[in-house]
Amino acid sequence: MAQIGYSKKVMKHFMNPRNVGTIENPDGYGKVGNPVCGDLMEIFIRVKDNIITDIKFKTFGCGSAIATSSMVTEMAKGMNVSEALKITRKDVADELDGLPPHKMHCSNLAADALHEAIKDYKKKEGKKT
Ligand code: FES
Repeated sequence: MAQIGYSKKVMKHFMNPRNVGTIENPDGYGKVGNPVCGDLMEIFIRVKDNIITDIKFKTFGCGSAIATSSMVTEMAKGMNVSEALKITRKDVADELDGLPPHKMHCSNLAADALHEAIKDYKKKEGKKT
């Protein structure tokens, strides 16, 4: 397969994405669309004592969106929610050894959906107390 500027890590996560799927009754759920291409991303998190113990994603996105989501789920798993909120689009792209410049917008979906899922969790937690 032609790799056209994709790093080995991007190809690895695209060919064998981690944490694909859904979580029933998640503690946090985030869904975002990419205004550039119209693609969609959903992230589900399970949280215990403010730690992300499980995380899954589902996407209608391109290969870069799949690779960045796979990477962001790996990065966020086991993290405190407040720390995970600080993961930026650039952090995800950097962890993948970069994305071609015209595909950088694809990394928005993964980080943004993660942030939405955490905000949803925090909102639900706020209601409980
Ligand atoms: Fe839509 Fe990559 S082209 S997320």
